[in-house]
Amino acid sequence: MNVHATALAHAHLPDAQTSAFARDAVEDLSQSPKRLSPKYFYDAAGSELFEAITRLPEYYPTRTELSILTQRGGEIAKILPEGAALIEFGAGATTKARLLLKRCRFGAYVPVDISGDFITAQANGLRKDFPDLAVHHVVADFTTPFALPADIAGMPKVGFFPGSTLGNFEPHEACAFLRSARAILGEGAQMIIGVDLEKDERVLYNAYNDAAGVTARFNLNVLVRINRELGGNFDLSSFTHRAIYNRERHRIEMHLISKKQQTVRMLGTSFAFRSGESIHTENSYKYSIERFAALARGAGWTVRKSWTDEAKMFSVHALSASD
Ligand code: AVJ
Repeated sequence: MNVHATALAHAHLPDAQTSAFARDAVEDLSQSPKRLSPKYFYDAAGSELFEAITRLPEYYPTRTELSILTQRGGEIAKILPEGAALIEFGAGATTKARLLLKRCRFGAYVPVDISGDFITAQANGLRKDFPDLAVHHVVADFTTPFALPADIAGMPKVGFFPGSTLGNFEPHEACAFLRSARAILGEGAQMIIGVDLEKDERVLYNAYNDAAGVTARFNLNVLVRINRELGGNFDLSSFTHRAIYNRERHRIEMHLISKKQQTVRMLGTSFAFRSGESIHTENSYKYSIERFAALARGAGWTVRKSWTDEAKMFSVHALSASD
């Protein structure tokens, strides 16, 4: 198929994910204030840009969480059942799972991710590096209920949700997600979860306003996707990245700001922008240990143990399903 035919095939037979993106984008850009869901950052290019963010000097969460998981891997292994299935919600690059897989004896690894190509490649890499481990990847939006592979039916379940992805959710959504994870994983499940902590505002600000501009490109990538996948005509040079810390709500907010008054078209709909008008693209909530524990408790989980780094930048928690 040539490029044009491929584009037509996509236009006429959009897969379920493309139509969800189309529906959400039109609805969210019709709101006031305008917004877009951060889950659409992560196509192949967006996933690569996020990996680049994790290597930035200003972006402490990933390397801090990795150091906690490395230092505490032995302790974590000790409190998890042998032969369990490790189910990772939003698996991405699977670097952190590898740390646990090396330290604990799991029966299976189930990475779940919305980015089909990326997760398939990651799963293949894991199968090569862990030849004795059963890897069953699932392409799904982990914020909605999905079925676990039948192969892991008899195994104890351990959820894994690192990277403070929980911070992307509104507090009530975070509660709903934890409840849903408990329902998916079932009775007696455990969960290992990484949560970014509240801290000095300057440190937070710099982590989302890096000098190299990688976070800006990551933010703008959602408009690139709309242009390519939904036939949008966003002029990328007339939108700019902004990230601020909202102290009252304990969250970093990312926005794309229109530099001028303009009209953008997508899927036969026009969207008017005032000069300085924002598209709110992401929230990244920060928790104290206590506020996270209260959230987990309200969602049917008990915190068994919490670990942090020396500087208390980031936290990792072991949860067990309350009965
Ligand atoms: C993947 C949601 C944890 O909030 O820090 C990084 C995403 N956005 N830089 C975060 C992100 C901008 C990241 N999470």
